[in-house]
Amino acid sequence: MVTAACFAELGNQVICVDSDGERIAGLRRKKMPFYEPGLERMVLRNLSKRRLSFSTQISEGVKKSQIIFIAVGTPPLPSGDADLTSVEQVAREVARAMTSYRLIVEKSTVPVETGRWIQRTLETSIRKKVPFDVASNPEFLREGSAVMDFLHPDRIVIGAESKKAEQLLCRLYKSFKAPILVTDIASAELIKHASNAFLATKISFINAIACVAEQVGADVEKIAQGMGMDPRIGPAFLKAGAGFGGFCFPKDVEAFIRIAEKIGYDFDILKAVKRVNESQRLRIVKKVEKQLWNVKDKVVGVLGLAFKPDTDDLRFAPALDVIGALQAGGARVRAYDPVAMPEAKRVLKDVVFSKDAYQAVSGADCLVLMTEWDEFKKLDFGRLKRAMRQPVIVDGRNLLDPEKARKAGFRYVGVGRHTLDGWGAS
Ligand code: UGA
Repeated sequence: MVTAACFAELGNQVICVDSDGERIAGLRRKKMPFYEPGLERMVLRNLSKRRLSFSTQISEGVKKSQIIFIAVGTPPLPSGDADLTSVEQVAREVARAMTSYRLIVEKSTVPVETGRWIQRTLETSIRKKVPFDVASNPEFLREGSAVMDFLHPDRIVIGAESKKAEQLLCRLYKSFKAPILVTDIASAELIKHASNAFLATKISFINAIACVAEQVGADVEKIAQGMGMDPRIGPAFLKAGAGFGGFCFPKDVEAFIRIAEKIGYDFDILKAVKRVNESQRLRIVKKVEKQLWNVKDKVVGVLGLAFKPDTDDLRFAPALDVIGALQAGGARVRAYDPVAMPEAKRVLKDVVFSKDAYQAVSGADCLVLMTEWDEFKKLDFGRLKRAMRQPVIVDGRNLLDPEKARKAGFRYVGVGRHTLDGWGAS
C-alpha cells in the first residue's frame, strides 16, 4: 500500500491488486486497511489525481502495467519457514495474463532463491511465449514511518540480471538522491534478510548487556550512549527494553535460521538473538512479580499494546505475551493504547480497556509500560499515583524518567537501569 501510494506520488500510474474484495471495496470508499502516518492523505491525493486505482483482478493489473511488484504476505509457517504459497500463486496468475514483455519484481520479504522459483513458475505457467524479467527490490520501510522511509531512503537495492530490468528499475527510482546498489537477485534477497537479522542482533545484544548492567547497578542507557558514539557501532537500534516484535524481525530471524539450516549452516548467532528476545518479555513479567510478590488478584495497568509506537499493529507484540503471562498468574489486566485498541479488543480476552492512561492504572498495583508512545512521555506522575493502589512502575521501554518517578514516590523499575532502592534488580 505504501509502495503503491508513493510510486503514484512520484507521478506513476499505479494499480493496486488484492484478492481480498472487502479490502479493495474499502479502499475504493477511501477507507485505509491499517493505520500508517501520512498514508491516507497520500492515497486520497493520488486517487483524486487519478494516478492510483484498485482492482481485484491480477489480469487487469498485468495488462495495464509494465512493471509488476509482488508485495504479498509471507507469513511464518509453524516450522518457522516463510509461507511462499501466495508468491507462487500470484506469479502463476501474472504469467497467465502476460501478453507482452513484463518486469516482475519481488518486493515481499522472501528467503534467498525465491527469485529463482518465481522465474521457474513464470516459465512453466506462461501461455503466450513473451519475454519477461524477474528482479528483486527489497524494501526497508519501518511501520510508523513507512511513507517517510520510502521517500527518503538510505539506499535502493536492485537485484537484476538483465540490462533491461536494471534500466527499468533505475528509471523508476531516478528522482531519488539515495545511492542505488545493483546486484544479482540472490544477493538482493540476502541484503534484506541480513539487514533485518543484523538489526535484531543489535537489539538482543543491548538487551543482553541490560541484563548484566542490572546485576551490577550500571545503566544500559549510558552504556548504549557510550557505545553508540563509536561510528563503527552507531547509536541506532541500541534501545534496551521488552525486545523486538512486529511482523518483520521475529519472523525474518526465524525464517533466516531455517533457510540456513536447509543449506547446511547452523546460524547459531541468530538462535541466540531469538532466545534473548523471547526471554526479554518474561523478564518484564518477573519484574512485576518481584514488585508485587504475588500477582494473583493484583491489578496491572498496561500502557501501550502495539509492537512499537505510531502503528496499530499487534502482531508478535511483546505486550501480548506479557499480558498473557500476567493473566495466567491470576492478575487482572487493564490496558490502554492510543491507536491499537480496536485491534486489541479482537485479540485480547478479559482485559479492561480504558479511555486513557490514567483510567488504565486506576486501582492498579503496578503500571507496566510496553510501548513508547509519545503521549506517555508527558504523564503526570502525581495523577498516576493518586489513581493507583500501589505506586509501582515497570517501564518495559525505559521511556520514563526514573528520578522524576522516584521523586513522585514511585518504585520505578526499568530495563538495565540502575536501581537506587535495590528493589529493581532481578
Ligand atoms: C523493520 C526494519 O526496521 C525495517 O527496515 C524493515 O523494512 C521492516 O522491519 C520490514 O522488514 O518490513 P519494523 O518492524 O516496522 O521495521 O520496526 P522497527 O522500528 O525496526 O522495530 C522493530 C521492533 O524492534 C519493535 O518492536 C521495536 O520496539 C524494537 N526495537 C527497535 C527495540 O526494542 N530497540 C531498538 O533499539 C529498536
